[in-house]
Formats: sequence, C-alpha cells, structure tokens
Amino acid sequence: MTVLVTGGAGFIGSAFVRMLAAQTDWRVVNLDKLTYAGNLENLTALAENPLYRFVHGDICDERLVLALVSEEKPDAIVHFAAESHVDRSILSPEPVVHTNLHGTFVLLEAARRLRIPRFVHVSTDEVYGSLEAPLEATEQFPLVPSSPYSASKAGSDLLVRSYFVTYKLPVLITRASNNYGPYQFPEKLIPLMIANALDNKPLPVYGDGQQVRDWLYVEDHCRGILAVLRQGRDGEIYNIGGNRSLPNLEVVRRVLELTGKPASLLQFVTDRPGHDRRYALSSEKLMQETGWRPLVDFESGLTQTIDWYRDHALWVAHVRSGEYRSYYERNYGGRELAASEPRP
Ligand code: NAD
Ligand code: TYD
Repeated sequence: MTVLVTGGAGFIGSAFVRMLAAQTDWRVVNLDKLTYAGNLENLTALAENPLYRFVHGDICDERLVLALVSEEKPDAIVHFAAESHVDRSILSPEPVVHTNLHGTFVLLEAARRLRIPRFVHVSTDEVYGSLEAPLEATEQFPLVPSSPYSASKAGSDLLVRSYFVTYKLPVLITRASNNYGPYQFPEKLIPLMIANALDNKPLPVYGDGQQVRDWLYVEDHCRGILAVLRQGRDGEIYNIGGNRSLPNLEVVRRVLELTGKPASLLQFVTDRPGHDRRYALSSEKLMQETGWRPLVDFESGLTQTIDWYRDHALWVAHVRSGEYRSYYERNYGGRELAASEPRP
C-alpha cells in the first residue's frame, strides 16, 4: 500500500506520517511546499526510512501533482496541505484561498484522472460556524463559515463532495475540532501561550476569552483519520471531536498554572474580527461506525505538550526566527491592550 500525504511536514500531517511509519508497513510519499508552517525537523526520525519519500512541491502545481500521482499510483491520498491559520487568513486571504481551494481542485483532478481508489480530505469543525450551546454539529449541519480560512475549507469540502457525486471518485471528508500537541506551530492558541509563558512574555487573550473550543489531542485526530481511511464509507463525512469544550481563558489559565508562571502575564487584547464564539461537534458517527474514541484527556495531553515544548527549545527557537517575528508584529502589534479582565 502506498499513501500520498499532502502537507506531511506540518503539525498534524507530520504526526500522521510518524503514525503510519510506526504502525504500518505502508510506503508514504509526502508532498509539501514547506511554507512557514512546514518543517522537516518534524520528520528527522524518518529521513533514512526506505518506505518514506519526501517531495518538495506545491499542490497547486498541476504538472508536478499529475506527474507524481502518475508515477506513484498511490492507493490513497490523504490531503492535509492547507494554509491553516485564521489570523493569517484575515491578514492575507490570498494564499489561503489559492492553496485551500485551487490546491484541493488540482489534487482532485489528478485523483480523478488516475482513478485513485481513496481520497481523504482533512477538514475542520470551523465550517459549521459558531453554534449556540448546547448545539453540537452533526455531519448534516449547514456550512456557515466566518473567516476566509473556514470559508476556503468549506468550499474545498463542497468541491470534494462534488467529485463523489459527479465522477464517483471515492472520497471521504473528516472534520476535526481544535488540535493541540507537540510540533504545533506557535501561532495557534495553545503552543503560542506555552511558548510565551516559558519565555515570560505576555499571553494575549482575544476579547473576553469566553470563546469555546473543543480540544483534540493530535494523535487522537490521526487515529480518527486512519480509522476513516480504513473503514469509512465512500462519499461520507466524519466529525472528529475531542469531547472537551473549554473557554479560551480557562485554557490559558491552565497553561500558566502548569508552567508555574504568574497570572500577571495574562493580557486581554482587541478581539479577532468575525471571531466565532463557540464550536462544538458530535463524533457519534465515527464512534458508531469504527469504534474510534479520543483516548488522551485534556489534562494529561496539555501536560505532555508543555513538557515537549520545554524539552524542544531549539525547535521553538528555529520556527520563531525570521518570518514569525514579522507575523507576530503584524497580528499583535496593532491590538490595543485591555488593562484588566473584561466583565463577562
Ligand atoms: P499546518 O499549518 O501546521 O501545516 C500545513 C502544511 O501544509 C505545512 O507543512 C505546509 O508547508 C503545507 N502546505 C501549505 N500550503 C501548501 C501547498 N500549496 N502545497 C503543498 N504543501 C503546502 O497545518 P495543520 O494544523 O497541521 O493542519 C493540517 C490540516 O488539518 C489542514 O487542512 C487544516 O485545515 C486541518 N485541520 C487543522 C486543525 C487544527 O487545529 N490545526 C483542526 C481541524 C482541521
Ligand atoms: P486558534 O488556535 O487560532 O484556532 P481557531 O481560531 O482555528 O479556533 O485560536 C483558538 C482560540 O483562541 C480562538 O477563539 C482564538 C483564541 N486566541 C486568542 O485568544 N489569542 C491568541 O493569541 C490566539 C492565537 C488565539
């Protein structure tokens, strides 16, 4: 079995590649553009593995994608590659729309032409938009995305579905909640807060910090994707949630506690435009059909993640050098500070 993974040098893609290398005898081909978020240091353990091939390239490059898919004739494509960050999508939507929509189209076309028997599209709960409590999105919920990021993912989901309906391409779509764990780029909430806390820098909480996210440990997500790849039904969508909803402020407070840093590092800043208040989803379908369930509880997952960032100061220093600084200045430099905790 050969699997073509796109975006395998990123946070979740690299965890998936490491999982396949550890648990299967499959050949893994990793196509990645190595954007700011792609990092071969996430895969050093595999560099000499004869079952692993890295290809440096862009999923939007039609010629390259078609040549690679023709050459490898993979048994499955698992598509992670994306511009994955909401704040960046607000600052610069163009690469987000290009990669997430056009890149997905290019892959679908190659899969269609070469009749690839399995295409797993990795998507997000953000496509369902903000939900009032106690609603939990099932796979039938309407798509109401709010940011250029979530809109581009929703658009790519619809395109993927159309290839099933129109061309009978055997596709599957997964929609996961917020991931956390080792190797996550420190632009997303949890790794940014850990990295800043370890550095005694302010922890910037958007708005009142009462926005709710459902936290999923990255390895639980990867096991869910593998379950869908193995057992999912063609044309179906599967939610993958962590079953652990928390307001951001509580997550940030726990990071401060577990790193032993003072609450005075917490800083309320201007909210994100179009900020979704609450994501929540039901993973009942995946659990019923495959037996999957999340195994890592938030407390131990967060502790393990903090330990990993403590032990990988060099990794953090590398990814935070260069481009990261200008991004940080663009995203946080213009935000006003609120002196104290806003009233709920
Ligand atoms: P990431 O930003 O850490 O990694 C993205 C990877 O894609 C990088 O290695 C990057 O180099 C690569 N890439 C970007 N544009 C490319 C292009 N044009 N061609 C080839 N490679 C390209 O992202 P992540 O957090 O690992 O997310 C992976 C996938 O999972 C995304 O599709 C994302 O939408 C989805 N997802 C993420 C989360 C989350 O919490 N992070 C939750 C649900 C779904
Ligand atoms: P993020 O990790 O960017 O994921 P998403 O927006 O895709 O859910 O953000 C998670 C939550 O944390 C979201 O409500 C925004 C908030 N947040 C902050 O309050 N401060 C920050 O510096 C960041 C990056 C996020």
